[in-house]
Amino acid sequence: MYKILRRKQLNDTVVRLDVEAPFIAKKAKAGQFIILRIDERGERMPLTIADTNAEEGSVSIIFQIVGQTTMLLSQMKEGDFLLDFVGPLGAATEFGDIKKACVIGGGVGNAIAYPSAKALFNMGVDVDVIAGFRSKDIVILEDEYKEVCNRLFITTDDGTYGEKGFVTNKLQDLIDAGNNYDLVIAIGPIPMMKFVSKVTEPYNIKTLVSLNPIMIDGTGMCGGCRVTVGGEIKFACVDGPDFDGHQVDYDELMKRNSTYREFEAHDRENCRM
Ligand code: NAD
Ligand code: FES
Repeated sequence: MYKILRRKQLNDTVVRLDVEAPFIAKKAKAGQFIILRIDERGERMPLTIADTNAEEGSVSIIFQIVGQTTMLLSQMKEGDFLLDFVGPLGAATEFGDIKKACVIGGGVGNAIAYPSAKALFNMGVDVDVIAGFRSKDIVILEDEYKEVCNRLFITTDDGTYGEKGFVTNKLQDLIDAGNNYDLVIAIGPIPMMKFVSKVTEPYNIKTLVSLNPIMIDGTGMCGGCRVTVGGEIKFACVDGPDFDGHQVDYDELMKRNSTYREFEAHDRENCRM
């Protein structure tokens, strides 16, 4: 059993939980994920690790309320216990030998972009962060980012905070202004990762995206998380979740991920709690 040490509501639909899991906290690296189960009736849910504290033995997860499991998880309190919390799973992000990076997070994807910015900054890399949100009221992790990057740019689609526009507009501006990035990391909605990759492709900037297909076992056995990268089938849970952004078949991923959308909406409305 895994104890919830802290719960924080980051915005109306996004929650952070710090969970006591000392083994995972010691081993986990940026880009890896856990699979949790709330109780014996619960589904297995993969979540990328947002942060770790090896001293305290805690692992932070940040999630958006989408279906029944995230709804139930959001209702858990400090002191409650999760039945399963398995990890670290997946391959850690391979940053390579780089000097200047731009880390881009879209919406709740910032929870996953944050550990990459932190790891790069701690490696001595010059890190720019572009964090994009629909509007001011759903901005998350601003203070946390400030600690782990050289420059933080916040964008909002409606212009209510930071600069008005998509993260792709800001990235193009930064490239046009002469920023020579060796690496761009983009994590967020699939269209965002697709269009960030389209911006960087003409400049041959190495671009990593973190894919979030449907997962079941998380160990490469079921094939549920298959994605097409460079024309080959890959399993995101063991070959990823990070992949070369210029090689991903985003349209296939979007189609596969939308399969259960109606069921998720139905489950959320008929939540068992
Ligand atoms: P959102 O739709 O509010 O988008 C966040 C930002 O992404 C926008 O402000 C914009 O700057 C950028 N963006 C969105 N569409 C774009 C486009 N077509 N072109 C350029 N930029 C674009 O994000 P949200 O609702 O917080 O995100 C939820 C989505 O993120 C869900 O679909 C979820 O599955 C996904 N997600 C992905 C991961 C991952 O590992 N890749 C992790 C968590 C969440
Ligand atoms: Fe089953 Fe990846 S989740 S193979």
